[in-house]
Amino acid sequence: MTKLAKTEAPGAPEFAYRKGELCADNVPLARIADEVGTPFYVYSGTQIERRYREFADAFSDARATICYSVKANPNLGVIATLGKLGAGADVVSEGEFRRALAAGIPASRVIFSGIGKTASELEFAVAHDVHQINVESVPELEALSAVATRLGRTARIAIRVNPDVDARTHAKITTGKKENKFGIDIAHAASAYRRAAAMPGIAPVGIAVHIGSQLTSLRPFETAFRRVAELYRSLRAQGIPLERLDLGGGVGIRYKDETPPAIADYAASAKRIFGNSGASLSFEPGRYLVGNAGVLVAKIVYVKKGVTHRFIILDAAMNDLIRPALYDAWHEIMPLNEKARRGWKEADVVGPVCETGDTFATRRKLPPVEAGELVALMSAGAYGASMGSGYNTRLPAPEVLVRGSQFAVIRARPSYDAVLAQDHIPPWLTAN
Ligand code: LLP
Repeated sequence: MTKLAKTEAPGAPEFAYRKGELCADNVPLARIADEVGTPFYVYSGTQIERRYREFADAFSDARATICYSVKANPNLGVIATLGKLGAGADVVSEGEFRRALAAGIPASRVIFSGIGKTASELEFAVAHDVHQINVESVPELEALSAVATRLGRTARIAIRVNPDVDARTHAKITTGKKENKFGIDIAHAASAYRRAAAMPGIAPVGIAVHIGSQLTSLRPFETAFRRVAELYRSLRAQGIPLERLDLGGGVGIRYKDETPPAIADYAASAKRIFGNSGASLSFEPGRYLVGNAGVLVAKIVYVKKGVTHRFIILDAAMNDLIRPALYDAWHEIMPLNEKARRGWKEADVVGPVCETGDTFATRRKLPPVEAGELVALMSAGAYGASMGSGYNTRLPAPEVLVRGSQFAVIRARPSYDAVLAQDHIPPWLTAN
């Protein structure tokens, strides 16, 4: 419970109390709430830029590119913030690919990942001459070869290998064990490369690996990297002209009391393992860049005393932020008005959706708060809005980007009319 008494926000220094009010950069969150209503997401552009620069600086002495993993937060305003600094994009669908392009990241800086790319998605990528397609199966190689041949192009590919390494993170976000659906088993990769090299329209240029998300230790990365380095050397020795290594994302952040590796240490170990390989490196961080840079602001609708628990009921719900329901994830909860360190009490913090799983925190010790007050669910910049849904016909929360003293709505809350207009009553029910 030690962290609960701390007044320093996760996401500091961009998220901090200034004159008793929780701010993003220099903007009090309450001011944004007045303008857009609750619930809403707000991101610190300053922090996103700072994190990107930290990552880029750690690799400034290596041939490395950073392809922001768009799935973490696909808002065009967020992608454009990173694109402007020189980031590429890691995308997993045509939709994300289109977002990267719309935000100003050219296809020459896009890596297309994912285990189930359809022929039409592959065609979109090849027609745009995408930098690299990470292929995850032999059937996908065959489909891509057919698409590329039809278009008269050559697709540059990496095979995503599955190195069978336990990332020691939540089971639902572990991807590099052999029982996981991802990649081609590293022991069978060489034969897949030989088949790829013989296929028309396919140019094998690299190896890709990604073993999971929210890793808090360097060790699994190092084990996976060493296996990839060995494969790289042996494929080159067999005459397959590889020149790129895509080392994925996965670097964790602090939500509560985790101690994720410093980015400089992560970079040092990648450089130690691959330094003399001659390969260019790419990375696909998502959470590291945007996770601590966003919060979800909600209003307390009611405080209700149950028989055994006290409930704080918010106007945000699992449709806005599903991570606690899906992964039992911890998000720090901070009132927008700074409180004294007295009178903290336990409560379950819940949303209004009709499921017991719609719970943000159980028996969480919080300062005294009342209905009508605003709170922030911290570290919600990655996989927050991005995994939002319209469950219970709740309107998607708007998103706001702050930079210094300015802020802009980067996604507005839709109207109920716009949401209802997406559905159609079939003619046989409307005819009289
Ligand atoms: N590259 C690939 C191939 C990936 O599958 C992922 C994430 C990333 C990069 C970015 O990983 P990051 O740097 O953000 O850890 N919804 C979950 C996380 C799912 C991650 C999926 N893949 C959560 O809320 O924790």
